[in-house]
Amino acid sequence: MNKIPVGVLGASGYAGRELCALIGQHPRFSLSFATANEQRGQSMRVARQQITYAANDDVSFDRVGVVFSALPHGASLPWVERAQAAGSRVVDLSSDLRPGNGQEAIGAVYGMPELGTSTRSAIRSATVVANPGCYPTSILLALAPLVRARLVIAGGAIVVNASSGVSGAGNSPKRELLFAEVADDYRAYAVGNVHRHLKEMTATLTALGGDADLIFTPHLLPVPRGILSTITVPLIAPLEDPVAFFREAYANEPFIEVVDEQPMLRDVLRRNVVRLTAAMIAGTRIPTLLVTSALDNLVKGAAGQALQNANLMFALDECAGLPP
Ligand SMILES: NC(=O)c1ccc[n+]([C@@H]2O[C@H](COP(=O)([O-])OP(=O)(O)OC[C@H]3O[C@@H](n4cnc5c(N)ncnc54)[C@H](OP(=O)(O)O)[C@@H]3O)[C@@H](O)[C@H]2O)c1
Repeated sequence: MNKIPVGVLGASGYAGRELCALIGQHPRFSLSFATANEQRGQSMRVARQQITYAANDDVSFDRVGVVFSALPHGASLPWVERAQAAGSRVVDLSSDLRPGNGQEAIGAVYGMPELGTSTRSAIRSATVVANPGCYPTSILLALAPLVRARLVIAGGAIVVNASSGVSGAGNSPKRELLFAEVADDYRAYAVGNVHRHLKEMTATLTALGGDADLIFTPHLLPVPRGILSTITVPLIAPLEDPVAFFREAYANEPFIEVVDEQPMLRDVLRRNVVRLTAAMIAGTRIPTLLVTSALDNLVKGAAGQALQNANLMFALDECAGLPP
């Protein structure tokens, strides 16, 4: 069976490298080109393949079925447009085309299949998919069923504390991310609702009918990869069995694991899953739910979800080539 040629822009970065490794094991996609900027011309072994990075300017977009852009936000959009103009379909891993980022006119479909049937069918026919952010994937999938069921108090405050491994910041050198700066440490950053992902989350929750504030405080965890989010949600009434509620909401989702115990990073690393649980909080006057969710920022939070979307775009098995 002929494989579909695909290209990866920004393939020397963390998300791009993860994508190349997954594509190397995909039954229906084959890597046609992989680009880099400062590392262009260099060769690297990724999984079982030897990859030589080309410059973005030197690749032919019209020879591939889909281009994955793992370029930094801001740098991605012009290349998405070039790939699209050459007739290729695109999955953009940057935030450039996500909801709330001002580029709605391009008509990119937000690539979070688990938001429901209409999202999934929109992804299937999309020419450009905006792949969700890593924090938003872990947080929105924990909130969407509650918002949809109108269970969240209008005007209430949803408080999210989320911790990410260091690969979430990419692999360009930054002093504050040196090993000696992050090891044995744990800190909050982007405090005061200023993180770039907030717009994507509030726009998506509003589109789902949400009307609560989101207070989002990210933290830097001194591990290479993984995100754990604890999400406190004020409800109109207590949920009798919160785990059963989420199990029903995600009954047919292959990449969402609703569990009784607290999810841990070690449960999700190198897997394309969001693992979550929920429990009512004791001793509060307002009924309050705590949802905990965990994912691998480079897989379900980036490259894995991008491949999941591409599988849908090419009418392949949604799970093809993805680590379960
Ligand atoms: N890291 C995550 O957990 C994660 C999760 C979800 C989404 N994302 C998104 O995925 C994208 C990539 O993230 P990352 O963490 O993989 O970043 P990264 O490690 O910094 O990699 C960036 C890639 O883009 C290339 N590049 C940088 N500036 C460029 C430019 N001006 N023109 C062309 N190529 C350029 C880099 O090439 P050189 O290295 O050769 O310079 C590298 O291949 C970002 O938009 C990010 O927001 C990342």
